[in-house]
Amino acid sequence: MRIKVLGAAAGGGFPQWNCACPNCRDVRAGILGAGPLTQECVALGTDDGHWFLLNASPEIRSQVESFPPLHPRSTRHSPIAAVVLTNGDLDHTLGLLSLRESHPLVLYATERVRQGFIEDNVLYRTLMRFPGQVTWNALPLGRAIELNGAGAKPSGLTVEAVPAPGKPPLHLEGRVAADPEDNIGLLIRDLRTGGCLAYFSAAGGVDSAVRQALEDADCVFFDGTFWSSEELIKLGLGTRRAEDMAHLPVGGAGGSLERLAGLRAPRRIYIHINNTNPLLRPGSPERRQAEAGGWEIAHDGMEAAL
Ligand code: MLT
Ligand code: MN
Ligand code: ZN
Repeated sequence: MRIKVLGAAAGGGFPQWNCACPNCRDVRAGILGAGPLTQECVALGTDDGHWFLLNASPEIRSQVESFPPLHPRSTRHSPIAAVVLTNGDLDHTLGLLSLRESHPLVLYATERVRQGFIEDNVLYRTLMRFPGQVTWNALPLGRAIELNGAGAKPSGLTVEAVPAPGKPPLHLEGRVAADPEDNIGLLIRDLRTGGCLAYFSAAGGVDSAVRQALEDADCVFFDGTFWSSEELIKLGLGTRRAEDMAHLPVGGAGGSLERLAGLRAPRRIYIHINNTNPLLRPGSPERRQAEAGGWEIAHDGMEAAL
């Protein structure tokens, strides 16, 4: 399995259109030494040239263009076999509406995330223009199923949805009660190589199910949204703590760096990084601390293989 990071940033991207925090300012000025970053999306490639996207960011068009293996090979074609959704947040789902050019789409999501996306969503009609335009495959919790593309071609990959501490998307808050299907991590196994990827780009905590999944993996992607609980508050950019947004901070006591020390996976990568996060600054004390703990910071174009 080939793993390609198409976008490493949290919602808003880096820089964010309405932000002039020190990170956003410096990346715009070209003096940060890293970035810019598009919003989170990872592509998984199989030996036979098929690709599975993890999440569909608002920047999906430019992300596809940025990576030639995702380009069409005939006048109407896409190597994208399916898209797997980890929750219903707009930074993970808005891109689906950009894939509306009369192309059959295969999607994997929990039933809850499917409902949240289609219910009362008049824009979804753009993906209902012909029978079979979208095929939804329900992801059960805690059980691996085969990942298949259009035409039900076996990919040699399986996916298991692992419930992760989370919440409904912002636009459904106050309208639906929280549910274990709101937010999942993925365990993706390559049946040919035996390699196992754990993908948890949003996690409000590390419970026993999450911990077990991360311990099983050879490569881990984990929620790197915020370094600290009060990151937005201290910068005067918001009133909510990281935990209020269902993102476990990386640093500090009880942060993911401390909680996940000792994972056996040779590659451990923080992704879904908010533009305010000091991890985005090469050489910052926070970044050095994460790197000393064996973690990498995802960037657009990063690759891994399993
Ligand atoms: C998040 O990761 O918390 C969400 O993407 C926030 C949002 O939807 O703006
Ligand atoms: Mn997000
Ligand atoms: Zn910013």
